[in-house]
Amino acid sequence: MDFFRVLSERHSVRAYRDKPIAEQTLGKLLLAINSAPSAGNRQAYEIVVVKGAEKKKKIADVAHQQFIANAPVVLVFVSSPERNASYGARGKELYAIQDAAIAASYAQLAATALGLCTCWIGAFDEGKIAEIIRAEKNMKVACIMPVAYAKEIPFATERRSMKDIVHEDSI
Ligand SMILES: Cc1cc2nc3c(=O)[nH]c(=O)nc-3n(C[C@H](O)[C@H](O)[C@H](O)COP(=O)(O)O)c2cc1C
Repeated sequence: MDFFRVLSERHSVRAYRDKPIAEQTLGKLLLAINSAPSAGNRQAYEIVVVKGAEKKKKIADVAHQQFIANAPVVLVFVSSPERNASYGARGKELYAIQDAAIAASYAQLAATALGLCTCWIGAFDEGKIAEIIRAEKNMKVACIMPVAYAKEIPFATERRSMKDIVHEDSI
């Protein structure tokens, strides 16, 4: 799919078909995510792939967003600050989060190109999700991402105008 079509076809989708994702398709998605850039190529993030119904339900409950449990696959992106320890505080507190966020963005776009849909989930009790996926102490759960085949495609959401968001030389 043309890249600009991918951009226009990506939406946050919250209603899913009851259709499994083939292992080969999931593999392509994970490979695409792994091609994302990262600070010093350290890839300071982990991806947890959740497929089991019980664990998906627990995640959905903790996030108070039940639709998550209806996706065949739920990805959890976790920043891994210790991988950036040699970059000091900026590496641990900023780059690691940025790495995880870029990886998650790649996931959204690659999923769209594969005919799948996603929704970035940022609102959840981080401690409880960390417990469910057994994240290590210093790790930060950056986002949860259900991946599925869409039941309905939502209308495109509006954006701030270019005039409002783009600044020349200074803000
Ligand atoms: C950091 C972040 C956190 C978000 N958290 C949630 C969330 O908890 N639940 C949800 O349904 N959507 C969540 N979204 C999706 C946004 O609501 C959505 O991206 C936005 O409304 C624009 O719509 P679009 O993705 O369809 O273009 C989040 C998106 C981002 C980037």
